[in-house]
Amino acid sequence: MAQTASRPSDFCPDTERAWQLDTRLVRGGTRRTEHGETSEALFLNSGFRYADAETAEARFAGTAPGFVYSRYNNPTLAMFERRMALVEGAEACRGTGSGMAAVFAALMCQLKAGDRVVAARAMFGSCHYILAELLPRFGIETVLVDGPDLDQWADALAHPTQCVFFETPANPTLELVDIEAVSALAHAAGATVIVDNVFSTPLLQKPMPLGADIVVYSGTKHIDGQGRCLGGAVLGSETFCTEILQPFLRHTGPALSPFNAWVLLKGLETLELRVERQCRTAATLADVLATHPVVQRVLFPGRPDHPQAALVGRQMSGPGTVVSFEVDGGKAAAFRLLNALQLVDISNNLGDAKSLITHPASSTHRNMSDADRARIGVTDGLVRLSVGLEHPDDLTADLATGLEAALGHRVGVE
Ligand SMILES: Cc1ncc(COP(=O)(O)O)c(C=O)c1O
Repeated sequence: MAQTASRPSDFCPDTERAWQLDTRLVRGGTRRTEHGETSEALFLNSGFRYADAETAEARFAGTAPGFVYSRYNNPTLAMFERRMALVEGAEACRGTGSGMAAVFAALMCQLKAGDRVVAARAMFGSCHYILAELLPRFGIETVLVDGPDLDQWADALAHPTQCVFFETPANPTLELVDIEAVSALAHAAGATVIVDNVFSTPLLQKPMPLGADIVVYSGTKHIDGQGRCLGGAVLGSETFCTEILQPFLRHTGPALSPFNAWVLLKGLETLELRVERQCRTAATLADVLATHPVVQRVLFPGRPDHPQAALVGRQMSGPGTVVSFEVDGGKAAAFRLLNALQLVDISNNLGDAKSLITHPASSTHRNMSDADRARIGVTDGLVRLSVGLEHPDDLTADLATGLEAALGHRVGVE
């Protein structure tokens, strides 16, 4: 158990890499103590003692194995990182305190003043803040393009670029980016490709074989999937994680707490069961929504009317657990819908066992200007539904109540 695992083989022996996905999700990365515990041990300590000063010196120098400090590494955190790397098929992983810490660290650990980033315009409000507001403050140019438009990517990447960043599917419009095509353009421009894979989960889309260099997750979403804790992960090559990311994390401190790493390990055990069921229910609800007169448009990667259905088929193995839809009547109708629901909770989180509904324009994307929101299709009538594990019939009935309430404007309720 006592190693910092600085070599790939320390993280994921070949025997574990050979396991089927289900087995990796449940057992990958587990390292038992001498007590032989069945569930992974939870090491809540912040520090580690050294047998002598020479050992301390060697551990700091990286010449002796062993843990140093839980801001750098911890046995429970190491198990989470190993399991994530095994599930993703990445060489290495580093845990972070939240998904936003993962996004920020993945970018900031490799950028400097004068660099250039190209990103897809449609993204979570906090990602937009980092790309459009924060990075330019430090002299990093950010160019935003319409994610589905390969010509725009090609134009933007005709100039030397250090990083490319995109969510696919994007929050909340479920717009896709062609990972393979954009990665090829990015690499020709000298850029590292970072994919925020939150909406696909580690199960429904594998960005790395398609060309992505780095994959980031909010563990808060499906990986925990039960509303218990925050967490994040950055996955990439061993060289990137050890030489570029690790010093940034070590010295700036967005560490994942061992307790949260333990919760996320437990979440991974049931991830496949939950995501599979949630995808199925999401598909049912998307079809129900599409038939209601107050719904103007449904955005769901599992429907043939998704604007990029062919790309969905090429790069995703499942539709995801989120359905977005636009109601006639704008914000007032959307609010009536949300407020009428009895079962689905109004909440900005997603990927949870409980179904959650969000009005992005007034919450998760409110920090964007009206023009920026309009440009990515986050209209006042857009609603994002994260589908949970409740019975589909109960969710259908609850949504029917909400949709009837949304219709209110047609009979003069405002
Ligand atoms: C696509 C995407 N990336 C990153 C995050 C940030 O995750 P966290 O809330 O764990 O910081 C979110 C949160 O909603 C998200 O939707």
